[in-house]
Amino acid sequence: MSHEEYPTEEPAVVTCGLPYANGDLHIGHLRTYVGGDVLSRALETLGQQTAFVCGSDMHGTPIAVQAIQEGRDPEDLALEYHGQYQETFPQFGVDFDNYGHTHDETNRETTRETVETLDREGYVYEDEVLVAWDPEDDQPLPDRYVEGTCPYCGEQARGDECDEGCGRHLEPGAVEDPVSAISGNPAEYRERTHKFFRVSELSEYLSGFLDRLEGTANAQNQPRQWIEEGIEDWCITRDLDWGFDYPGREDLVLYVWVDAPIEYVSSAIQYSERVGADVYDWKDPWKRDGEIIHIIGRDIIQHHTIFWPAMLHVAGYNEPRAVVASGFMSLDGDAFSTSRNRAVWAREFLAEGFDPDTLRYYLTTVGGFQDDIDFSWDRFAERVNGELVGNVGNFAYRSLLFAHRNFGGTPDADVSAEVRDRIAEAVEAFEDAVNDYSTREATQAAVELAGFGNEYIQRHEPWNLDDEEAAPVIRDCVQIAKAVAVLVYPATPDAAGRLWDQLGEDGAVADATLEAAMEAPPAEFDAPAELFEKVEDERVAELRQKLEDRVDAATTDETESDEGDGDDEGSMSHEPLANERISFDDFDDLDVRVGRIESAAAIEDSDKLVRLEVDIGVETRQVVAGIQQLHDVDALPGTKVVVLANLEKAELFGVESDGMVLAAGEEADLLTTHGDAGPGTKIR
Ligand code: MF3
Ligand code: ZN
Repeated sequence: MSHEEYPTEEPAVVTCGLPYANGDLHIGHLRTYVGGDVLSRALETLGQQTAFVCGSDMHGTPIAVQAIQEGRDPEDLALEYHGQYQETFPQFGVDFDNYGHTHDETNRETTRETVETLDREGYVYEDEVLVAWDPEDDQPLPDRYVEGTCPYCGEQARGDECDEGCGRHLEPGAVEDPVSAISGNPAEYRERTHKFFRVSELSEYLSGFLDRLEGTANAQNQPRQWIEEGIEDWCITRDLDWGFDYPGREDLVLYVWVDAPIEYVSSAIQYSERVGADVYDWKDPWKRDGEIIHIIGRDIIQHHTIFWPAMLHVAGYNEPRAVVASGFMSLDGDAFSTSRNRAVWAREFLAEGFDPDTLRYYLTTVGGFQDDIDFSWDRFAERVNGELVGNVGNFAYRSLLFAHRNFGGTPDADVSAEVRDRIAEAVEAFEDAVNDYSTREATQAAVELAGFGNEYIQRHEPWNLDDEEAAPVIRDCVQIAKAVAVLVYPATPDAAGRLWDQLGEDGAVADATLEAAMEAPPAEFDAPAELFEKVEDERVAELRQKLEDRVDAATTDETESDEGDGDDEGSMSHEPLANERISFDDFDDLDVRVGRIESAAAIEDSDKLVRLEVDIGVETRQVVAGIQQLHDVDALPGTKVVVLANLEKAELFGVESDGMVLAAGEEADLLTTHGDAGPGTKIR
């Protein structure tokens, strides 16, 4: 790697964190992939030779556990989602040069070779380790098979990651009070022999690596702290059936985080094999002086700044130049929840008929890559209508229409010094932004240039000039439009392509580099068409409602466990009785109390939910209940209710719900008591 400004002499590889092939993609997932795609296109616009590669992550307990839950074979399950991702990414313009998967032959081979090298170099040893075990089912519980308490921060954690707390990777044996995530049985720790990678010996190397590393600040600062705290060796094998065997050991499977990043290399190898090493040689970035750029979510920084560079270093690969880590994304102020259907699904976004470029634009510009961002239909519409339709689209359309009508295309005149300078300024801002890995600023350079164009055309009022006077103004505008096409291309490649065609250009905007921004468009072109479609207010209202209803439905299903046909009373169509009996102990685990509603208020933006303050004797709880349409909300205070007090907390419409008010059926007939049992009385 060179640390020279992009474009460098050597080819680059841009990778995106591999998605686990175990579920549908929603727009939150797309953020990193769009980010990687925009960056790799922008690098190419600078003239940087770039391969953009990725693949599906097929191994590990995320797949194995999902397969158990669905009663399926892990390979079938993962291949199915792999196929889906392969189809979905290009629909959003996320155009990988190669999209492989971790279970393919290339990756099997690269992984075997890499691990053998680590071993040969003396960086692997065997040691005893405590692994979680389900004593009742007599089976090992690696990684996501087990849950417990994070030893660092005390939050609820998965076996190998503190996903809701401090975000740390957790070694086997680390979680406290382990419980099987499959059976719910308390787990015990048993001693097993596993393979370890001596990361601890690489602290010094890694410190230096972090000093050299480019990308977002979060990817440098967090790992620095981890190194200071001291790095432990890393257990790289698991007791699991699904995955690649440790070379020469049929009883041990490699930890998924070993073979997953190796797919970055394998995917580049596949690309080289397809196009030929004379076009792109994977060895240039991976083994020689080329540039390795990783785009990831911030939850996997530790893997990309500690474990992965350590492996690369020992196995004789090049060192990554940049790790660009995104912030999180929320939906209407709350977390995406795939299990509760609280998401805007990728396929749904397309089915609604939206232009994928509009989402790409939103994801790229609504916040810096490292920032946490939120998606709401309102803000989406605001940005599309204001910036894409109102600014970029409007400028391009009015300029090209004027040019076509009065001059049949680009007027024969010189570009003014003012416009020349302004375009040069935008080009430079774009270059700087890409060198800073800021796709947002790069895109803003394009949009601001269009803003200047609108101001310029307004200032010169060509519609009040005769053709001779108007020609230089329109010549300027056409040049600005072409420069906008070049600079906005990474974020909105389809729209930029349409603009390119409207300008009468023959080639593809994808092949244009920055010099094109100053080259004259053809003398002749046809009448333009609008580049972007406005998102109407009614659509926004409709989409908001759709999301709300869906979340409410999911919530109501959960709280009422009643699928009745809408007319429960006297109806014979009851749900069948549960098959399985629970033990008295299970029942005893429920902390059910008498409560009294103190206050009740409908939750804004939701037409079902009500926020209740409920006195349960020991304390007053805020509980959210789906009963707005079914009761006179104002009449609720004073009502005695029955509350499940030890249900885990949830957040609904941004309001925390700490307990559940029990009710019968679709009508949410509230349970109550008929004697004088007061708030706090336990129900048994
Ligand atoms: N599948 C992992 C996740 O979703 C990411 C793997 S990225 C790689 O968290 F580096 F391992 F490739
Ligand atoms: Zn933690």
